[in-house]
Amino acid sequence: MEMVQMKLFETEHEKESFNHSADTYKGIYALHKYWSKKPHNVVRHFILKYTNEDEIVLDPFCGSGISIIESLLTNRKAIGIDINPSAIFITKQTLSKISIRDIENEFKRLRERVESKINSLYRVVRKDGVYIGTHFIWENGKLVEVWYKKNRRKVIDTPSEEDVKLATSFSYETIPYFYPKEKLFYNPRINANKDTKVYNLFTPRNLLALSILWKEINAINDENIRAFFKFCFTASVGQASNMVFVVKRRGKFNGKTRKSPKKEVGSWVIGYWIPKEHFEINVWNCFENRYKKILKAKKIQNKMNYIVREGSKIEDLLFSDYNLLLFKKPVQDVLKDFPDNSIDYVITDPPHGDRQPYLELSLMWNSWLEEHPEYNKEIVVSDSKERNKNKEDYFQLLKEVFQEIERVLKHGRYFSLMFNSLDDNTWINLFSIINNLNFELIDIETFEYSAGSVVQDTRAGGLKTDFILTFRKTLLMDKDKNKIDVISINCEKDNIIELIEKYIQNSGNHGRYTYQIINYLTIYFIKQTKLFKLSDLFKLLQKEFKRDGNLWVGRR
Ligand SMILES: C[S@@+](CC[C@H](N)C(=O)[O-])C[C@H]1O[C@@H](n2cnc3c(N)ncnc32)[C@H](O)[C@@H]1O
Repeated sequence: MEMVQMKLFETEHEKESFNHSADTYKGIYALHKYWSKKPHNVVRHFILKYTNEDEIVLDPFCGSGISIIESLLTNRKAIGIDINPSAIFITKQTLSKISIRDIENEFKRLRERVESKINSLYRVVRKDGVYIGTHFIWENGKLVEVWYKKNRRKVIDTPSEEDVKLATSFSYETIPYFYPKEKLFYNPRINANKDTKVYNLFTPRNLLALSILWKEINAINDENIRAFFKFCFTASVGQASNMVFVVKRRGKFNGKTRKSPKKEVGSWVIGYWIPKEHFEINVWNCFENRYKKILKAKKIQNKMNYIVREGSKIEDLLFSDYNLLLFKKPVQDVLKDFPDNSIDYVITDPPHGDRQPYLELSLMWNSWLEEHPEYNKEIVVSDSKERNKNKEDYFQLLKEVFQEIERVLKHGRYFSLMFNSLDDNTWINLFSIINNLNFELIDIETFEYSAGSVVQDTRAGGLKTDFILTFRKTLLMDKDKNKIDVISINCEKDNIIELIEKYIQNSGNHGRYTYQIINYLTIYFIKQTKLFKLSDLFKLLQKEFKRDGNLWVGRR
């Protein structure tokens, strides 16, 4: 562990706050989509900074498991908890090593059993032969374009009568195998429409193909290999849905601007939005492409120097040679069984208010996996009226968890919290919880999102970075130290204006983005245990400063 220095009351206040840049997701971190994945290089930096080898790292909201995998890769023991079964499934599949030979053999068997069956659903009959359709473009419920392969060459064609007849000959009701019938929670914020069922996200043809594939995967005897292929399935199912939009590029062709734009495949990214113009992609191709990508990463992973010894209860980590615990349960239930002062470090990224309703967004995966999470125990603010998940419930549950984190963490050890919000009350409530615990803020920094991380904030003045706040568990008598107080902006108005001015001046001719100024001020003042309402800072900026495009350039 590096020497951890008390940075909070540095006199050198004008020094720009430290921002960690983020590596992109590749290899094992790019196998499966998850919302708000955190940059692995930043997570590793903090694990190395605050722990020694063999110590226990806890992430009570582990999501796709980046902190868990980084802990194992750096020879720490790891505990991952998440209420979302998909999150624990992704974590486990991402970190597990598996026999490549067994996987390749099983894939061959799968191919023999289902490939031709599935491909027959996408038959494209032309005068010169019968081909397999790879992509179909639908516009307002009408088939408008067909792509198929002819001698390995991509052919783009208008649909024939027979193509349309085949594509529209399927119906949800006649599918003989399992497919998910759950209803999405109605939530316009994530484009989940009223009374939409999970299967409505797919064309009946693709749903049939998926159900054939799913049935064969479920028939695999070996539990680990079965889980591996389920992982390939859930990792590819979004791309087999109607949520894949059409990207249109007007670029040049033979030196001239194209008359009609070139259509390219987009990807499923945000919520449950089904664009008016969308793809229907051959399910076998989606699955095989994802499988190949995962296999490639697994080959590299098998050579990585770590072993997983998964236990089932906290004692396994405390008193035996196990190095991993994963709990597919609400954290508020799991931590109750942990002894006081048993954990060496907590690093976590809890749900940030209303930014992502994880269980609603994961319903598509969980329903295929036939998992039924405890929705009422999710810590989240949801716009879905069907859920009754409001701020009060969110802060109450978060408070219970933070109290438990304080209890299980060893004295003098650290808790790093990744967080951000554009909402004043979220920050105020967060600190009112922390202020009542034996946590002392010792550092606050920012980090960028990894390129390609799903659903960044697209709202005006949106977030481009998150904060990472690190607290030390103190003794009871230190309790009153360093409480963060909410201060009225009027108390420091002139000081703030001067700070912003200098900060902009230091940026040369370029100016500063809103989020950079807000980050700078937040860090500067939180280090002095002061918190201002973000909305007041925004107002002050707008009133006193001018900008050039998105950049603030100086005083009005
Ligand atoms: C911000 S995400 C974590 C993402 C993670 N850092 C990553 O890199 O993938 C927050 C997580 O908290 C989980 N969560 C919400 N309520 C929970 C609860 N009561 N118990 C445990 N996990 C919960 C969500 O399912 C979600 O995966």
